[in-house]
Amino acid sequence: MDIKSSILVTGGAGYIGSHTAVALVEAGFRVVLLDNLCNSELSAVEGVRSLVNAGRGASVEVPFYEVDCRDREGVSEVFRSELKKGTRITGVIHFAALKAVGESVEKPDLYYDNNIGGTKVLLDVMKEFEVESLVFSSSCTVYGEPKIVPVDENSPFLPSESPYGFTKQECEKLIEEHSKTNDIPKLNSALLRYFNPIGAHPSSLIGESPKGIPNNLVPYLCLSAAGTISPLTVFGTDYPTPDGSCVRDYLHVMDLAEAHVAAIQYLIAKSLSSDLTGSSHTRAFNLGTGSGVSVLEVIAAFEKATGIPVPHVLGKRREGDVVSIWAEASRAKSELQWHATRSLEEALKDAWNWQKKSK
Ligand code: NAD
Ligand code: UD1
Repeated sequence: MDIKSSILVTGGAGYIGSHTAVALVEAGFRVVLLDNLCNSELSAVEGVRSLVNAGRGASVEVPFYEVDCRDREGVSEVFRSELKKGTRITGVIHFAALKAVGESVEKPDLYYDNNIGGTKVLLDVMKEFEVESLVFSSSCTVYGEPKIVPVDENSPFLPSESPYGFTKQECEKLIEEHSKTNDIPKLNSALLRYFNPIGAHPSSLIGESPKGIPNNLVPYLCLSAAGTISPLTVFGTDYPTPDGSCVRDYLHVMDLAEAHVAAIQYLIAKSLSSDLTGSSHTRAFNLGTGSGVSVLEVIAAFEKATGIPVPHVLGKRREGDVVSIWAEASRAKSELQWHATRSLEEALKDAWNWQKKSK
């Protein structure tokens, strides 16, 4: 039997995972999705399947496993099942995690268990099945409240503003440690520190649909503009920023998805070039546009891009928020040949189109 290779996407039914799965298939990879659906729906998997099969003669199979990353036997079984089908998982993109900063302050143990526990199990199983390439979903939150912006990858990890941020710092350390102590099999990893992903696939077949009331700005803003939720609260207008609201680096999720393809290609090239003698390799990359935008500017950009007013009120600061952060993203440009190409307005328009369709 011919053995084909696949990329396992954990959290593949989630927001960034589903967009990345589509980008991977478009780039010629076979993907396998794993998710426990704690913050997503099976409809996202159907969306991925529709998109990758649109306009193709032959049907592209996208296997999905409903498994929790902390379930060692369940995760191993995914690798074994794929082997039985004649496909070997040769790379993993690990998105699966809980991500609500506020909730993490209330339930830190849940976050430690889910995010760090899940990553530990995955690393063990990758070792067992000799998988050499890992792309990890990290976050700019590892920099805490940075002293200098834009932040580059050499900026130190500052004490995290939230347990969620702490889990990202710990997982990065865990992966680095695992790489150092595991040269046989090797572990080559890319630690991708996302800034603020927003928007949706332009087809509106997949997008961001968290369960319950959204915590993130753009999904909340869209629901508020649609009139299905109370007005958006701008969390804090007395920060030391030009208009008093927090500043972030918002990037289109389609750009971010393409960055994952670039990262997995980079790791595969590393693996091939250091085949027999090389040691494990870990590299962190900031993924952002390089521009900071305030909350009030996002509201204004949304209204300009869509012509729809955003009901909003000016409110108090949110616990755990950093004031200003945006990316110095030149490493990704020079080493991954990736940079963000889509505008804030395009991202907000795509987010709104997704909102209208998913009503
Ligand atoms: P998401 O919630 O849409 O996707 C995460 C997916 O992981 C969900 O489908 C959820 O059901 C699944 N999941 C969670 N715990 C799991 C577990 N133990 N086992 C199996 N599946 C599990 O979130 P997203 O925005 O797509 O985020 C993906 C990754 O990117 C996360 O690691 C997140 O921390 C990171 N990240 C996100 C942002 C952002 O603003 N969206 C920014 C920086 C980093
Ligand atoms: C945070 C983390 C990010 C993490 C992400 C996952 C930082 C700097 N960023 O993003 O790395 O992975 O959570 O969820 O810690 N806002 C409002 N009203 C709202 C919602 C948000 O004003 O109803 C504001 C926030 O105060 C913030 C901005 O909008 O200034 C963006 O918030 P959000 O979308 O939640 O993302 P971050 O908190 O930046």
